Amino acid sequence: MNLWNHYVNNNFIPEIFCDASLDNAILLDKRIVKLGREISEKPKSLVLYGSTGRGKTYFSYCLFREFLNKYNYSVKFCRSKDLDDELQDAFRSSTPTSYVIKKYQEPKYLFIDDLGLEKDTDKVERDYYDILDYRWSNMMCTILSTNLTKKQLEKKFGKRINSRLKSFLWLEFTGKDLRSAV
Ligand SMILES: Nc1ncnc2c1ncn2[C@@H]1O[C@H](COP(=O)(O)OP(=O)(O)OP(=O)(O)O)[C@@H](O)[C@H]1O
Ligand SMILES: [Mg+2]
Repeated sequence: MNLWNHYVNNNFIPEIFCDASLDNAILLDKRIVKLGREISEKPKSLVLYGSTGRGKTYFSYCLFREFLNKYNYSVKFCRSKDLDDELQDAFRSSTPTSYVIKKYQEPKYLFIDDLGLEKDTDKVERDYYDILDYRWSNMMCTILSTNLTKKQLEKKFGKRINSRLKSFLWLEFTGKDLRSAV
């Protein structure tokens, strides 16, 4: 079973990213596509950063597709907004948030898209710390994308999270807004 097709058929992949693949990624910088191929052979934790519309989410889905082919169910993709909602729902319904945190600690490969849209609270910072610290200390692969700069990330998530992110490979997405090209 091809998991990517399964996810596409079940509307788990947003329509605009259904064709995302490193082979189709003609609008992406060649250097980034090449790196994508290396990373799908030898996974590495990444921070994809840069302004809006530069292809961070597209590239994340390309890698997600590669990873799904190789590692199947040990790969998870989420938007940080959804993770935030799940944490808030658990908090409100008195379900221990530790269940949600565990769900994001466990996948061997985790994508979090659009980091930085969460509400600014100590609780969010703590929950993200629990997830990222666990993953970092167990050398698990985490691929983050964000519109924020290093400085803004530090301001939002604090020094402890940022210190861990320093060991990630930071990949900047530059160029023009691709939304005006599609
Ligand atoms: N290599 C590509 N080939 C074809 N279309 C692409 C490619 N890269 C990006 N796109 C398209 O360009 C648009 C912007 O890309 P994307 O959503 O990945 O940007 P982003 O950097 O994640 O932006 P934001 O920070 O606003 O989330 C999307 O519609 C996407 O489908
Ligand atoms: Mg995006």
